Amino acid sequence: MTIYEIEGGKPMAGELTAQGAKNSALVLLSAALLAKDVTVLKNCPEIRDVAAQLEILQSLGCVCSREGSTVAVDATGVSSTEVPQELMRQMRSSVTLLGALLGRCGTGSIHTPGGCAIGARPIDYHLQAFADMGVVIEKEGDHLSAAMRQRKDSIVMLPFPSVGATENVMLLAARLPCTTVLSGAAREPEIVDLAKLLNQMGAVVMGAGTDTVTVRGSNSLNGAQHTVLPDRIAAATDLCAAAVTGGSLTLRSVAVRHMGAAIEALIRSGCEIRSEEGAVFLKAPKRLSGMGILRTMPYPGFPTDLQAPFVTLAATAEGDSVMVENMFENRYQHVPQLHRMGADISVSGRVALVRGRSLHGGQVEAEDLRGGAALLLAGLGAEGNTKVHDAQHCIERGYERITERWNSIGASIRVQSLA
Ligand code: UD1
Repeated sequence: MTIYEIEGGKPMAGELTAQGAKNSALVLLSAALLAKDVTVLKNCPEIRDVAAQLEILQSLGCVCSREGSTVAVDATGVSSTEVPQELMRQMRSSVTLLGALLGRCGTGSIHTPGGCAIGARPIDYHLQAFADMGVVIEKEGDHLSAAMRQRKDSIVMLPFPSVGATENVMLLAARLPCTTVLSGAAREPEIVDLAKLLNQMGAVVMGAGTDTVTVRGSNSLNGAQHTVLPDRIAAATDLCAAAVTGGSLTLRSVAVRHMGAAIEALIRSGCEIRSEEGAVFLKAPKRLSGMGILRTMPYPGFPTDLQAPFVTLAATAEGDSVMVENMFENRYQHVPQLHRMGADISVSGRVALVRGRSLHGGQVEAEDLRGGAALLLAGLGAEGNTKVHDAQHCIERGYERITERWNSIGASIRVQSLA
């Protein structure tokens, strides 16, 4: 259990540097399995999910090391193709290990990641895509074994631009001596980051960032060195922290071009924003305004990962906002917690109507990563003291040194770690 004790109402002001992207780093680590060699990732965030992914890679026979923000994975001695159940359960992105194991070894076994806090999160698109690429899959309970039956050119179509399924197809395709054309692909920046690494490893990936990705794979890929792209979600959460306290922030080492939807919403809330290559500057008004309607959509739309943080901003604003969550069916778990702090939010299915008002401190529980961050933000913006109880260490899964960084620019958050 980690408890975050926040003294609210303190305007934040200063400068921060953004972390490397969690959602990219985890998949790039899966990609490291494809080479009989060493892959080096720079700007790799030091967070729990990355530590869990490294533990899985070690259990498969890789030798992993970290020096500062640089992680090296030597996948020369891969000796197992079975992802241990306990480690698999720790995070959803481990599903991309299946594509990488199939590519590297021709077989792979995982336990289905299972329903998580934010919704059912099925993997049927991943499995259908693998089947279209010549993979045979056997399922027994939640155990899933997959084996390559026939390596062949394939055309794969995704019914929805799933980020994880796009990554899984690319990972497998990169290691097949064939051409795979994927249509209906996700266009997230993390897909482009993966393509960059795969190209450096010796595959030929074209069209990443569009809805059609073509991969000419190779049965021998080399290790490579790559810098993980900046985390657009964590960066936007930093901006939200300054915004909710009526403060100001200079954020460096960001990819501003990936943050369009978040920046637009912050401007609508009354923040002044300026940007230049690699940096964004925010100055918040004393009180934020309602933001109108925000709808989560695949990239470049408003990201589902920012739904919870922006619901908090809306809850403290003057005026009404409406959030429509189109990606996951159970992603409003932070709302009952925000009610404990005086928020006026009504949820009906996908839609949350948020009537802004001043929040007061309270005792709340984090149940998922982004919802947990939203509660920290609520604590920063509220009058009085807030305790965020994080029994499963959700926040540490994705945010690097969040309290230390925020405290360095004027927040007051004390962290208590109980065994
Ligand atoms: C999603 C987000 C991604 C975010 C990540 C972590 C989108 C499109 N994707 O990626 O930006 O970084 O969560 O929070 O916003 N689906 C199926 N069957 C499948 C796969 C997906 O029905 O086999 C559905 C999901 O239930 C969901 C939608 O497709 O409704 C998008 O899922 P997907 O992009 O795969 O989710 P993640 O990869 O987890």
